[in-house]
Amino acid sequence: MAPPKLQRWALFFDLIRPHKKALAMGFFLLIATNVLTMIVPKMIGEAIDWLDKGEFGVVLAWAAAVLALTVLRFFVRIFSRFLSLETARHVSYGLRERLFAKFLRLPPSYYQEKGTGDLISRAINDVNLVQAMAGFGIMFGLSGALSIVLAVIFILTINAELALWLLIPIPPIAAAVAVLGAKIRHYTLEGQKSLGRMTELIQENISGVSLVKGFALEESEARRFDAQARDVMNQNIGEFRARSLMLPVMILCTGVSELLVLYVGGQAVIAGELSLGDFASFNLYLAFLVFPTIAVGWTLSLQQRAEAALIRLKEILDADESIADPKVAAPAPERGHISISKLSFRYPERQKGEARRLALDKVSLEAAPGEIIGIVGRVGSGKSTLIRALLRLIELPRGAVSIDGRDIADYRLSDLRRAIALVPQDEFLFSAPVERNIALGWLKAPAEAIARAAGLAHVSGDIEGFPQGYKTRLGERGLTVSGGQRQRIGIARALLRALPLAERPRPAKILVLDDCLSAVDAETAAEILHSLKSEVGCTAIISAHRLQSIRHADRIYVLERGRIVQCGSHEALLAEGGMYKDMWEQQLLALEIGESLEPRHTLEAAP
Ligand SMILES: Nc1ncnc2c1ncn2[C@@H]1O[C@H](COP(=O)(O)OP(=O)(O)O)[C@@H](O)[C@H]1O
Ligand SMILES: [Mg+2]
Repeated sequence: MAPPKLQRWALFFDLIRPHKKALAMGFFLLIATNVLTMIVPKMIGEAIDWLDKGEFGVVLAWAAAVLALTVLRFFVRIFSRFLSLETARHVSYGLRERLFAKFLRLPPSYYQEKGTGDLISRAINDVNLVQAMAGFGIMFGLSGALSIVLAVIFILTINAELALWLLIPIPPIAAAVAVLGAKIRHYTLEGQKSLGRMTELIQENISGVSLVKGFALEESEARRFDAQARDVMNQNIGEFRARSLMLPVMILCTGVSELLVLYVGGQAVIAGELSLGDFASFNLYLAFLVFPTIAVGWTLSLQQRAEAALIRLKEILDADESIADPKVAAPAPERGHISISKLSFRYPERQKGEARRLALDKVSLEAAPGEIIGIVGRVGSGKSTLIRALLRLIELPRGAVSIDGRDIADYRLSDLRRAIALVPQDEFLFSAPVERNIALGWLKAPAEAIARAAGLAHVSGDIEGFPQGYKTRLGERGLTVSGGQRQRIGIARALLRALPLAERPRPAKILVLDDCLSAVDAETAAEILHSLKSEVGCTAIISAHRLQSIRHADRIYVLERGRIVQCGSHEALLAEGGMYKDMWEQQLLALEIGESLEPRHTLEAAP
């Protein structure tokens, strides 16, 4: 439900508050331009009266004064525009900062629910509307309203009775604004929603381009896009129609009052109750009112659109962060002792009716400092969920996961996550040089440390073969490197954070590799595991669906449908028989068949 009107604008006032001074200054200049503008018709009327008396010299002097005033207005107006439009840029900058900070704090589940395309669309399109309101909106609105007030005051001083006739068009204008305003707001809300869905489609199709092409989905996706783009167009047309009506209605109403003035005022001039000069300035004021009326009409329609945008932005800013820092935080974990006890977890329901099972079912696990723990299980057995739990990326029951003897919810999120170096299942590479991708946020990372991490991850040979070595820029999402290279670059990135280095205090105490050895051959995987023990020395949790990768782990947990079904060393598990042994034999067989089909690089190409 939409919040009450004032609350909707609270965010807006909050955003412009820091710019009070600039706005006040702009407002002062605005008053100045308006007063200067409003004196002109009075001066022209005065000149016309002198013309009537045949004093041409005085008329010329008045004309010169009008010119001087116009030049003065020119400068004041430019300055006030700069002031207000610059403030608007600051407002949208502030708003984007806030949104971005919020985006970083929101849990991953929020993005699954909302769709990233829609959120991107809000951060761009809705912010632009708010910016327009803070700039042109405030400027035209205030200046228009002020001009109208001033013109009315001047008109009243000339002839009060005549001025009253001007009030006649006000009720129909107010009615039109109310009706059309509601329409504009409705179409804007729907239009921005639709635009969000369209952005979503574009984003999905660009990032999933190989899938779309591989499955020859171009035609059906184009149709889907066409329907969405058409909807955006229709909403925009609706909004634009309502917006287009606003002005003509206002101008029509002012046109009616012009006729009235001519009729009533003309009679007064003929009867000698009004001088010709006063009559002329009266009409000039009326003409002067057209632009302010337009400006006010435009502002009112913008205000409706900005309000719709504010509602959508506030929704993001007010979203529940659920996973947040504790009020009193424990000091950052130092040793890397992991203890998971009877952890059960179920993802929030998304598809109704689907029988949901526990993604984790009473999982218990221990990892002493320096131990290498393997977690194996088929796809969907819960490995990634377990790792998400460790990083507190999902909401957990208290007491289920602790590090160094304290529940992980006791630590500041940044402390917890800094203590854990993660290589996610689907590693993300930024479009930046390889060295920056490995250093990731550590701007002063020494080149030797980067090279050492790359060496331990067995990727230094690949990098040295790149066109510009460590300076080679990686394409968006690392499309220019192979899957195996991407995984090893990701491992180098995590190792750099976990390596004990003199240049950087507090290395990560826990290394977590989520199924990221799938495209690394078994020997290399064994060597990486070995150097973890000898050179890095942190606790490691390594999940894999390929058993080869982690056979040298100190202890292996076998996960099946969210449950730990076996636990022990590779040799012990083989001797024990059961699920682990079955999987091992299956995979050995698959490996032999694969190798006989394609003797080189079978594993490099594995999914
Ligand atoms: N974000 C999610 N929302 C809902 N269900 C999920 C989500 N992620 C995973 N699941 C479900 O949880 C179970 C475990 O998944 P996951 O931890 O990704 O397994 P693994 O990493 O072993 O392949 C699966 O049944 C999967 O469908
Ligand atoms: Mg997984």
